[in-house]
Amino acid sequence: MLNFVIFGGPGSGKGTQSDKLISRYGLHHISTGEVLRGHIARGTELGITADSYISKGQLIPDELMIRVLASVLESEPEKVKNGVIFDGFPRTIEQAKALEELLAKYNSTVHAVIGLEVPDEELVERMINRGKLTGRADDNIDTIRQRLSVYHNQTSPLRDFYQAEGKYHAIDGSGDVDQISERIHKSLSDKLPGLAEK
Ligand code: AP5
Ligand code: MG
Repeated sequence: MLNFVIFGGPGSGKGTQSDKLISRYGLHHISTGEVLRGHIARGTELGITADSYISKGQLIPDELMIRVLASVLESEPEKVKNGVIFDGFPRTIEQAKALEELLAKYNSTVHAVIGLEVPDEELVERMINRGKLTGRADDNIDTIRQRLSVYHNQTSPLRDFYQAEGKYHAIDGSGDVDQISERIHKSLSDKLPGLAEK
């Protein structure tokens, strides 16, 4: 089965488009942001540590984050057998290398990276709106600015990393949600003819 990384700035639509990919291809979804927010809500030790980074818009350190992802995969190995959308991981080159090592244990790899490209002003607007609607704690203007800066400095170099591997699919992430989903489908099915819809 095929594994995908959905990649893009904060608020670029990774979660929204993951839902579309799940219903279209029947993949499993692992969002590291959701895993961490679950720990914060349950008040676990990891949640307390994660909150201290997330509330400042900083990344959780690689070594800890890689352990968290490894334990998610170990607890549900059948996910990798059926294909996973990794949402929010990797966010650094070190995490990308670790993901390859983890997937190699399951004789698998990252088959494609879906890069949602959206201008910063639009990202800010989306997150401000969501903050008002849902109260998500890191959707305030100061933390949003920090998340964007971290994205440009630490995460966006992954674009070149995956482009060099021929895996990066640049997708215009602005506009109608269903149209973006169609752009993703077209880009993936051109490159991966074996990709089966549900
Ligand atoms: P994470 O939860 O991954 O947050 P993020 O990357 O900031 O992205 P979001 O979840 O905010 O946005 P999204 O791209 O999923 O977009 P969505 O579909 O929700 O990470 C949070 C934090 O956890 C990080 O800052 C970090 O501290 C930590 N963390 C997580 N993973 C880590 C890792 N690997 N290493 C280290 N630290 C890590 O859409 C956003 C909004 O826009 C929604 O309201 C949606 O309805 C709307 N929307 C979506 N599409 C459209 C559209 N086409 N038009 C208009 N509105 C739209
Ligand atoms: Mg998300």
